[in-house]
Amino acid sequence: MSSTPLRFLITAGPTREFLDPIRYISNRSSGKMGYAIAEAALAVSSNVTLVSGPTSLTAPPGVEFVSVTTTQEMAEAVWSRFGSADICVMAAAVCDFRPKTAAGSKIKKGSFSGVLELEPTPDILAELGRRKKSQVLVGFAAETDDLEKHAREKLIRKGLDFIVANDASAFDAETNRVAILTADGKVERLRELPKIEVAKVIIERAMDLAR
Ligand code: C5P
Repeated sequence: MSSTPLRFLITAGPTREFLDPIRYISNRSSGKMGYAIAEAALAVSSNVTLVSGPTSLTAPPGVEFVSVTTTQEMAEAVWSRFGSADICVMAAAVCDFRPKTAAGSKIKKGSFSGVLELEPTPDILAELGRRKKSQVLVGFAAETDDLEKHAREKLIRKGLDFIVANDASAFDAETNRVAILTADGKVERLRELPKIEVAKVIIERAMDLAR
């Protein structure tokens, strides 16, 4: 066995997209799943980078912690580190849209037109799928309906090795019930488990595919 530790790159938490200096669009992600994955990775490697959007959690000791706020910041942090990663687990709940323009000062109630124009944010993970060389690439899918069908579509579209499908009820919860769908068409359905136990399985499965 090689003595070089596997290098993990993990994202967690929500991103924020600003309308003006004090208002933003975001989502209910707590970051718990991604932080649990970082913790599980630290149990097997000393080389773990956690790129996190705003959460109320404390980074696991020993992790290289990169704090970001917007999707663009997360994209830059992830893309610049991808070349030196072996396993990437993208658990962040990234905002898919952002306001087309952000006002430089607080929008006054009276001057707001009532219409907010949005544009798509970069898909961080899909870009990793295009750049992928030998890295193991893992994504998440949170859906409210047709979970496994949508997850499989994402797995293919984003060029992933496997995708972790969880019901949208996992947001901010202590436990998670997931299915792991692999690129070769297999599905592994886990029972509802604490997020750290789910994280350990994800890390194990990713390590099986590494190197
Ligand atoms: O397309 P969707 O957002 O459902 O895909 C979820 C997966 O893609 C997650 O792994 C998430 O971290 C990642 N993602 C991303 N950049 C985006 C949107 C999602 O990396 N802009």
